[in-house]
Amino acid sequence: MPIYSLFRPLAFALDAETAHRATIRALKLAPKRKPPRLPASLRTTVAGLEFTSPVGLAAGFDKDAEVPEQMLGFGFGFVEVGTVTPRAQAGNPRPRLFRLVEDRAVINRMGFNNAGHSAAFDRLRRAHGRIGVNVGANKDSRDRIADYMEGVRRMSAVADYVTVNISSPNTPGLRGLQDKGALDDLLAAIEDARTDKPIFLKVAPDLGEDDAERIVRSAIDHGIDALIVGNTTVSRPPLRSAHAAEEGGLSGEPLNTLALATLRLFRSASGGEIPLIGVGGIATADDAWERIRAGASLVQLYSAMVYEGPGIARRIATGLAERVERAGLNNIAEAVGTE
Ligand SMILES: Cc1cc2nc3c(=O)[nH]c(=O)nc-3n(C[C@H](O)[C@H](O)[C@H](O)COP(=O)(O)O)c2cc1C
Repeated sequence: MPIYSLFRPLAFALDAETAHRATIRALKLAPKRKPPRLPASLRTTVAGLEFTSPVGLAAGFDKDAEVPEQMLGFGFGFVEVGTVTPRAQAGNPRPRLFRLVEDRAVINRMGFNNAGHSAAFDRLRRAHGRIGVNVGANKDSRDRIADYMEGVRRMSAVADYVTVNISSPNTPGLRGLQDKGALDDLLAAIEDARTDKPIFLKVAPDLGEDDAERIVRSAIDHGIDALIVGNTTVSRPPLRSAHAAEEGGLSGEPLNTLALATLRLFRSASGGEIPLIGVGGIATADDAWERIRAGASLVQLYSAMVYEGPGIARRIATGLAERVERAGLNNIAEAVGTE
């Protein structure tokens, strides 16, 4: 916190995307730090992978896998890089990233700007630590399913898990892959393309009970290893900031209630049969604890780090370990779904 409280006014004086780029550049130059030692009660195994902490960095911060080890050095238990698409693409015109400071929120319509599979692959070959790769489809792709298959095939060689992201609101039509027939076709193709590496599926928070039941059934039928619930929302809860009307996906504090409610839908639809990863508006140890008790085996965050700095990973981890102890448990895994 002390260092970030000096850095934040500088970063917030820049437009959000310039600040983000500067942050990634600074992290690349900083010496890599060894991940801090975290309480043993946070060690957990999900989809056959061991995690030192259930608190991960969500996709979109490190789209091109430039700084995953630096982020693990702050105490994240895992880092999800991406979204990467087969070919590099520019994304939407700028400005496309907005801080909603009064709401502790972010709106983005980046549109999968990224340097493509090859660039990420080459960096990840040399990277160590618990790293997942989030894959998507090119905007101008003629065969989106083929893009996902290629992502799963290629990235499995350098990732601990691969996330199939069908929930970004910023690639027109992409979320249609969550619909009934489309999802079954996609997941059948993924089943063919996959290796032994776990495959996670990332869904939108803007889904109802029927969607949750259908998606859970399809995911289990096709051997998906975990569901990430979820991405940014296209809905607009009441907001105060000037940028509230910008188009794109909303994340951060105003997403918390919706993301928690959607996680609960997925928990009651699955009854614990498939691991869930809770994302959306998590900013404190209480938020993370609540999400875990609602059924999340792991959690991820991004927007809260913009406001609180990367030290948030360790603060939440420490707070979770305290809550495990206070609840009279030995390990965080015992708290999953206990609400
Ligand atoms: C600027 C920005 C870019 C993002 N890019 C991606 C992305 O490329 N792929 C993805 O699956 N999610 C992306 N996300 C969504 C986050 O991974 C996360 O699901 C969402 O922000 C909710 O979590 P939060 O409230 O903690 O930020 C992005 C979010 C933000 C704020």
